[in-house]
Amino acid sequence: MSSPKQRAAAAALAYLKPDTVLGVGTGSTVNFFIDALAAHRDRIPGAVSSSNASTERLNALGIPVLDLNAVGRLSLYVDGADEADPGLHLIKGGGAALTREKIVAACADTFVCIADASKQVSVLGRFPLPVEVIPMARIHVAEALRAMGGNPRWREGVVTDNGNDILDVHGLAITDPVALEQQINQIVGVVTVGLFAGRKADVLLIGEDQGVITIKP
Ligand code: 5RP
Repeated sequence: MSSPKQRAAAAALAYLKPDTVLGVGTGSTVNFFIDALAAHRDRIPGAVSSSNASTERLNALGIPVLDLNAVGRLSLYVDGADEADPGLHLIKGGGAALTREKIVAACADTFVCIADASKQVSVLGRFPLPVEVIPMARIHVAEALRAMGGNPRWREGVVTDNGNDILDVHGLAITDPVALEQQINQIVGVVTVGLFAGRKADVLLIGEDQGVITIKP
């Protein structure tokens, strides 16, 4: 029997474009997608990965992992989310892979987000907003985020694939995700904010107990 996350992951296969490279995100929902993709590996030259964890899983299933710089544009990016609002703006980074995820999303023609219904919210911010920071700037960035009304907490013991720290910002009601993403991007020492608003998802596939709902903004 498949779970809602598995159903959303399987539905994303319909967006696969034969003979093109796709981008692959990170997380438990994406792991289901990678497993399902293995049966289609002969239809694609390979995938660009957004994390060391996804690279390992793709390699284990015989799906070639390609360098983004050698590929350029991607036809498709499939990734999960921690929260999605009705406009398909996302919070991502629960798995600390937000920087590479944002880079891969930026290079994709179509971004398909896969999730279960627990990720749908009317306003982003119940899930603490992850911010990847250069380690020496952690306190400086935390103070700037506090001045913006947030309550940042250091995700102690977690080091990103890029060697950086994560601050999780609690207590934000994100009514203007595009503006907040730009504002946080301006703080010196911020590598990436886990708001995917300027480049949001194009399609959201919500796995349910019985089927999958397709949402477009
Ligand atoms: C990783 C992410 C994931 O997409 C997000 O945390 C959702 O994960 P899951 O599919 O396990 O619920 O942004 O950085």
